[in-house]
Amino acid sequence: MNKKSLPLSRVYRLLEPGPVLLVTTFHRARANVMTLSWHTMMDFEPPVVGCVLSEANFSFAALKATRECVLNVPTVELARQTVGCGNASGRRVDKFARFGLTPLPASAVAPPLIAECFANLECRVADTRMVRRYNLFVLEVVKAWIDPAVTAPGTLHHEGRGAFMVAGERIRLPSRKK
Ligand SMILES: Cc1cc2nc3c(=O)[nH]c(=O)nc-3n(C[C@H](O)[C@H](O)[C@H](O)COP(=O)(O)O)c2cc1C
Repeated sequence: MNKKSLPLSRVYRLLEPGPVLLVTTFHRARANVMTLSWHTMMDFEPPVVGCVLSEANFSFAALKATRECVLNVPTVELARQTVGCGNASGRRVDKFARFGLTPLPASAVAPPLIAECFANLECRVADTRMVRRYNLFVLEVVKAWIDPAVTAPGTLHHEGRGAFMVAGERIRLPSRKK
């Protein structure tokens, strides 16, 4: 076998799902946005998504207190802003202003949609039982928006340490319903 041992600390770089998201929250009359790549689909309909947010993040407290957020899906055109929102805290910075992101009112939750993102998922926290142990919030998507003009979104997929894959070639294979 030609393989070498992979440090366990690098496993996430193989499995980390995508796309990278911008999560908006609204707490104490302030909107905030953070970058998030640790998420996973958990159910089809209603859509259920698991998201891991470090408690060190300002967004963690906002999500825990308000139980609402929007998962905004950026494309490669927003790469600089996406990394910027993941390297600054809403405790100190208005990231909408700093990164030129436009908040739009959501229809079912208080946190704003980000206009520049091609898709926006309005979410409510459905289950907090794994927050204490894993920082894992289980979210239900209650309303979803998509820009129909974006037919081949170049979403960002984090490989760790500042490296990203941009979604590209699409192949189609026979599959069952979903
Ligand atoms: C590409 C990328 C992916 C990230 N993914 C996550 C994540 O999945 N969970 C998390 O808690 N923080 C993640 N972060 C870090 C947060 O976005 C970062 O700590 C941010 O400053 C938190 O902002 P806040 O304090 O305003 O909430 C990521 C950062 C980057 C750049």
